[in-house]
Amino acid sequence: MTTDATLSELLETLISEGRLAVAAWPMELGTPEDLGLLTRGDSIFLRPNAELLSPSHIHTSLSKRAARWLSSLEVLRVIGSTNDRLMLLAETESVDGVVCIAELQTKGRGRRGRTWFSPFAGSLALSLGVALDRAVHDLGGLSLVVGLAVLDCLRDLGVADLALKWPNDIFLGGRKLGGILVELKSQPGASAARVEAVIGIGLNVDVPATVRGAIDQAVTDLVAEGYVVSRNVLAGRLVSSLVDYVKKFERVGFAPMCDLFNDHHLLHRRTCEIAQGEGVVVGRVAGVTEVGEILLETDSGTLAFAAGEVSLRRQD
Ligand code: BTN
Repeated sequence: MTTDATLSELLETLISEGRLAVAAWPMELGTPEDLGLLTRGDSIFLRPNAELLSPSHIHTSLSKRAARWLSSLEVLRVIGSTNDRLMLLAETESVDGVVCIAELQTKGRGRRGRTWFSPFAGSLALSLGVALDRAVHDLGGLSLVVGLAVLDCLRDLGVADLALKWPNDIFLGGRKLGGILVELKSQPGASAARVEAVIGIGLNVDVPATVRGAIDQAVTDLVAEGYVVSRNVLAGRLVSSLVDYVKKFERVGFAPMCDLFNDHHLLHRRTCEIAQGEGVVVGRVAGVTEVGEILLETDSGTLAFAAGEVSLRRQD
């Protein structure tokens, strides 16, 4: 049996029986705490208040438009990566209308080859597939639009003090709350003007402090900031917001949303550095372009950088 299958079986037992004997836990899975579970004496428990995902509950939080658009909603206990699942599917069929959400990812991926950890029932790890009638070179602003959709959804749920950090980090109270990983695939034989996009979103909802502390940057979660939000409601509302924003983007592109992005950009008009390969460029952030690049005013003029492999850091 694969590690994920073993883990899935153990979690089912834990959910149905309310506890699991520590002795039944194979140590090669890491400690239960590493995965967001609790150990008390000789038993393992779910964390109190852990709300499990339920497809019917998520459905009730979808807008009418999103409910019409959705063709498949898959809710899994464990998976390597929800993005990997949709990217694999996109090799053979369209992923338009497919949403995959997992309680736990064991090989979650972030931008620039980083890993993304989603503890059991403590975050939202969601991938949404959409086929866009646009060529790949027209999709530069897509991940920025996704950031706006996430921000809008969280604000509607009452979360304040949110910001975006180019290209696609979600910040709450100055610390990272979530991230976005957009991946593209063209179907064999499909027109060059139609692209399958897999939009992956990871949001920290209630991540144990020990797990947060093990992440190599300052992160936060909704519960730590005082927001008690149902993960099922969050999932339904997020899918609805994504459908609205992505469909609008498909119609009108990113240009009409540049100002909105700048207004919410944590580093707008700040002095920053961009690391690109071995080099570092320093300048003042002047905004984003209609293809989603960031503009930096430097001593040698205004330069544009595409998200790709660069990273942006505040300097002042
Ligand atoms: C980042 O900030 O580097 C992006 C993180 C994206 C994480 C999400 S979680 C759901 C989806 N599946 C993955 O493996 N990654 C994305």
